[in-house]
Amino acid sequence: MAAAVRDTAPLRDAATASSAGSWSLRHLHLELCVSFSAGAGAGRLRGRARLELRCERDDAGLELRLDTHPALCVSRASLLPPPGGPGDTAGQALPLESRPFSSYGSALHITLPQHPRAGQLLTLLIDYEAGEGPGVCWLAPEQTAGKQKPFMYTQGQAVLNRSFFPCFDTPSVKFTYSATVKVPEGFTAVMSATSWEKQKDNTFVFKMSQPIPSYLVALVVGDIVSADVGPRSRVWAEPCLIEAAKKEYNGVIEEFLLVGEKLFGPYVWGRYDILFMPPSFPFGGMENPCLTFVTPCLLAGDRSLVDVIIHEISHSWFGNLVTNATWGEFWLNEGFTMYAQRRISTEVYGVNPDDTYNETPYEKGYCFVSYLAHLVGDQSKFDAFLQAYVNRFKFQSITADDTLAFFLEYFPELKEKGVDSIPGFEFDRWLNTPGWPPYLPDLSPGQQLMEPADELAELWAADGLNMEAIEAVDITGWRTYQLVYFLDQVLQKSPLPEGNVERLSKRYPKISKAQNAELRLRWCQIVLKNNLEAEYSKVKDFLHSQGKQKYTLPLYRAMWGGSETARALAMETFSATAPQLHVNVQNYVKKILGLEVAQA
Ligand code: BES
Ligand code: ZN
Repeated sequence: MAAAVRDTAPLRDAATASSAGSWSLRHLHLELCVSFSAGAGAGRLRGRARLELRCERDDAGLELRLDTHPALCVSRASLLPPPGGPGDTAGQALPLESRPFSSYGSALHITLPQHPRAGQLLTLLIDYEAGEGPGVCWLAPEQTAGKQKPFMYTQGQAVLNRSFFPCFDTPSVKFTYSATVKVPEGFTAVMSATSWEKQKDNTFVFKMSQPIPSYLVALVVGDIVSADVGPRSRVWAEPCLIEAAKKEYNGVIEEFLLVGEKLFGPYVWGRYDILFMPPSFPFGGMENPCLTFVTPCLLAGDRSLVDVIIHEISHSWFGNLVTNATWGEFWLNEGFTMYAQRRISTEVYGVNPDDTYNETPYEKGYCFVSYLAHLVGDQSKFDAFLQAYVNRFKFQSITADDTLAFFLEYFPELKEKGVDSIPGFEFDRWLNTPGWPPYLPDLSPGQQLMEPADELAELWAADGLNMEAIEAVDITGWRTYQLVYFLDQVLQKSPLPEGNVERLSKRYPKISKAQNAELRLRWCQIVLKNNLEAEYSKVKDFLHSQGKQKYTLPLYRAMWGGSETARALAMETFSATAPQLHVNVQNYVKKILGLEVAQA
């Protein structure tokens, strides 16, 4: 299948060193051989990448540039003869040079033998070896749940896959891919691909038959097994986690997919599988197509963190099918996904409990999409627009201008009214002025649910505790998101008057001894903000148990901004856990603690 070419105006992605604008990538084939080191440290990934390219411009020039990384050692680049024709099958070796580009990557310059012309097809072979780059993570047995065997995974978003394979590492370029991966005896490989097949010699064969951007190519090699949880879904996990994984999501995934399809159009990816990662995986979830990667923290035992799955499923339409063309417009991926996630939860669960994440591209993006829906005024019309939007831009990478132009084209009556330039609500102001947006979506159903939590937090923040009023509130039936909200309010009011947090801790073991990661995070934040040294060990235990970025960084910030004891705890915990953390997370923590960050 031919890969999609952007059919709107050309654009410049500042984060790529490649000559992506002059070439399209019709197909990528990877031949990989993975081996683990005997002790700790990086294993070896030997690779050969075959890039099937098409020249898009007559002035493309003799030099072809790919994104790569100092950790990626390229030994040879060669040009294959056109298929069917005569010629050397090893290909013609081409001059190559790696040049510095930025802190997150370098540029591989390859010199072609002749000036290419628009329309010309070229096949390049690149032999390389990937060491310990930020995109390829090697875990020692102790860093896995089972603690028996090593593990490796790749994480591409945003610009890390250039240390996994040489490529056009920009979301503006889409291509199909295939791969063969040879792994050691006793290991299994899985990828973000449409099909998975095990052949002899521990070799796994993959094919992704829809065009995707480089950041969505993903690989895991580990001691993993799978269990079915739906007609097109299975969970993958280490053997010791597979029962829990199956129990968490058995029978619930299909409904989310069906509701997503009803709202946004066909699910084009075939399977939707979920892979539970080792505890150091730095994200809640990563929407690798066909195979979402998730933190094992989601194994709460009660499905209370399923919103992460709904979020990643929503990326099947927004992000993976319609993709931001540059990372500067990341909100197009995340804002539309937050909207889609909440549409799906509203359809499945009725009320839409307020979410636990509120970073700008997510929540401001969500607000903007909600604003567009508000302009339309009719939910079913807006749902129809979303479906048309996906259909119009599927398999493409687009800019916010493309989105808004299509919106106005789809609703000519709104265009006529000039909704893009209502004073104070100009589209341009939404997108280009920092700060909270001028429009807030209607959150009143959520507010009603949260009222008791608000009142209880008030009571606990009072100077003399009114125990009678406190005891009158029964939290045993509260859902996780209500507890989360309650703790957020307590944290906001902290430090509480002397002694209150100890009493709160004793009164609600359900909270202070929680196993749910979202509750643990907030309890640890409260412990730190209130200097409750008696419970510092909980902070330490939590940071030892997982390495998710959104949990790790706030806790280090709180420790570093706290007492001497808290700072010492930060240093002690970091020196013990640093090797388990993803390098990016390690570097962020080092910055917080004022430690030197090694240059990539
Ligand atoms: N695609 C993101 C994760 C990501 C963002 C990875 C930026 C690398 C760079 C994923 O879809 C996501 O948003 N995950 C959230 C969960 C979600 C429920 C908000 C997370 O990891 O917390
Ligand atoms: Zn997301």
